[in-house]
Amino acid sequence: MKFFLDTANIEEIRNAAEYGLIDGVTTNPSLVSKEKRPFKDVLLEIARIVDGPISAEVVSTDAAGIVREAYELAGLHNNIVIKIPMIKEGMKALKQLSADGIRTNVTLIFSCNQALIAAKLGATYISPFVGRFDDISEVGMDLVADIARIFSNYQFPTQILVASCRNPLHIREAALSGAHIATMPFTVLEQLLKHPLTDIGLARFLKDWEKVPKTV
Ligand code: E4P
Repeated sequence: MKFFLDTANIEEIRNAAEYGLIDGVTTNPSLVSKEKRPFKDVLLEIARIVDGPISAEVVSTDAAGIVREAYELAGLHNNIVIKIPMIKEGMKALKQLSADGIRTNVTLIFSCNQALIAAKLGATYISPFVGRFDDISEVGMDLVADIARIFSNYQFPTQILVASCRNPLHIREAALSGAHIATMPFTVLEQLLKHPLTDIGLARFLKDWEKVPKTV
């Protein structure tokens, strides 16, 4: 299972990269807007830190515009993956980009049928948003489990990229469902490492170690 970092913040990406756990990065227009820097500069800097897929989202809502933006972004670096919203025009663009060999991530997936359509049109990744589903009292991870079953039924090569992860349970459930990737904020990555019993156990070991004679 791969871990992607869900941020456009360079400091967070550098910190996370130190763990050696980051297989890729996802961005979206909201995350990029927090950085107050040109989008392309941010993408190129991320590409210098992380050697893996970096999702860059288009903001056009017509197929021709999406394809034009996709080519511009994909031309920046080999690791750029084009994030396309799950809308009709996006799906027209997806068909063309798939045929042209451009890697894509279909975003804002909230139903099995949306995931199925994106897979049929050759998406490299699909991003179901589990946290936003939970926000409206739906069970986001149920959607991921259903998509995993559908993709397995038909052997689709499209990878499930679990997005909008807000806590460690989302990562655990994503792994149990067999999803290929979970993308998470830096705070969640750090939470994954922590367990209070680990901290208590280590403190006890170190305290007991003080009682061990230090000289032979
Ligand atoms: C990543 O691809 C998504 O854009 C992101 O995970 C959305 O997360 P949010 O619902 O917490 O904004």
